[in-house]
Amino acid sequence: MLEGNMLTEDALPTYQTANNTFDGVRNETGSSPCPWAIWTRAWSAEENQLIDLLRTYLYLSGRVDMLMVEKTLQYSIGAGITISFSQFNIPSILRASPPPTTTIHRRKTTSSRRLSPVLAVASPTTSPSRHQVTHSMPPEKLEIFKSLEPWVSENILPLRKPVEKCWQPIEFLPDPSQGPEQFEEEVRALRQRVLGLSDEYFVMLVGNMLTEDALPTYQTLFNTFDGVRDETGSSPCPWAIWTRAWSAEENRHGDLLRTYLYLSGRVDMLMVEKTLQYSIGAGIDIGAENNPYMGFVYTSFQERATFLTHGNMARLATEGEDPVLARICGTIAADEKRHENAYTRIIEKLLEVDPNTTMIAIANMMKKRITMPLHLMYDGQDPNIFEHFSAISQNQGVYTSRDYAEILEFFITKWELEKLEALTGEARRAQDFVCGLPCKIRRLENRAKN
Ligand SMILES: [Fe+2]
Ligand SMILES: [Fe+2]
Repeated sequence: MLEGNMLTEDALPTYQTANNTFDGVRNETGSSPCPWAIWTRAWSAEENQLIDLLRTYLYLSGRVDMLMVEKTLQYSIGAGITISFSQFNIPSILRASPPPTTTIHRRKTTSSRRLSPVLAVASPTTSPSRHQVTHSMPPEKLEIFKSLEPWVSENILPLRKPVEKCWQPIEFLPDPSQGPEQFEEEVRALRQRVLGLSDEYFVMLVGNMLTEDALPTYQTLFNTFDGVRDETGSSPCPWAIWTRAWSAEENRHGDLLRTYLYLSGRVDMLMVEKTLQYSIGAGIDIGAENNPYMGFVYTSFQERATFLTHGNMARLATEGEDPVLARICGTIAADEKRHENAYTRIIEKLLEVDPNTTMIAIANMMKKRITMPLHLMYDGQDPNIFEHFSAISQNQGVYTSRDYAEILEFFITKWELEKLEALTGEARRAQDFVCGLPCKIRRLENRAKN
């Protein structure tokens, strides 16, 4: 029963999506100031705390097969809200017998250091200052996305990884099924390994974990895009199938990083958890105007940014001599790369079928500047915590303004933006703006340095 309750709670992105299928009360922007939407986000943020608690308790109990639990969760989020419990194989989830019990002695460890609340990354929970333009795509363009559905089935859905071939968090974590002594030994080894990593590294890791773990926010965001949203919570439309599968894959990232952070003893989990609750409550404002052209520009950029960030975290973990954490970050980075491929492929296709609108959408998103998913986060104390987090990220070389310019350059080449021809006047101006932007960013960066 506990298992069932946890799985019910843990499919939270699904429920936030379901709530946002209700006409008249949906969160139209991802961070809508409408009271219906504020309630849904706050509800979601509360539910998320229950999930984390139940999942960690189950994990520590050693009484369930966490690999089966995690796979079931991935299937459930992928399926959406009409999930059939026939997938829920009780005998396979429960362990045949509880692991041998011995007394776990609580030890006071001198190696665990608590970070100051600086890691509780934040910004106020109030609604964003940016004026939120909505539904900027002309209705006749909906037809384009409808007509692309067979193409999505053939070209995007194959980029999902079958659940049975996916890694699951438990494969990287101390194994609670081995009995308390062995488990304690593995946790001790984990704590020993992380001693070589700096406090700044942990701030970054918390930032990454919070970014991943605010997943209900992102599934809601994708479902604000006109023409591709999941209209029912389990829509058979290929756009919606991709979003749910993507969400189910992403869910493992936050789960793994959070448990690793928890076991490390290096961070103030109470602050981390409060920050997560604030962040889910605040939502996200990327300025995509419910416009799928702009939305997919954002997701392309964002997936590449997370690919680079997790990759840099893997490199730093290797230097800090935690090979397990290096493998964790590297494995997550590989997922992000596959997601990046999906979204860049969508933009490639849109450039083929509707180059003018797509070019203008790329320029619009770049003019607004791509904001990181956690830009509205808040820890209840420091209104500038997101800036502090960004400064550390820049300082550690995990994600910098140079990366921003390089990502843009990468897409200019990948999408062959400079070669686009026969554009309308507005689209040509958009092309000039985007293609000239990396140089401008570099110039500004050099001036700031000097
Ligand atoms: Fe992720
Ligand atoms: Fe991703």
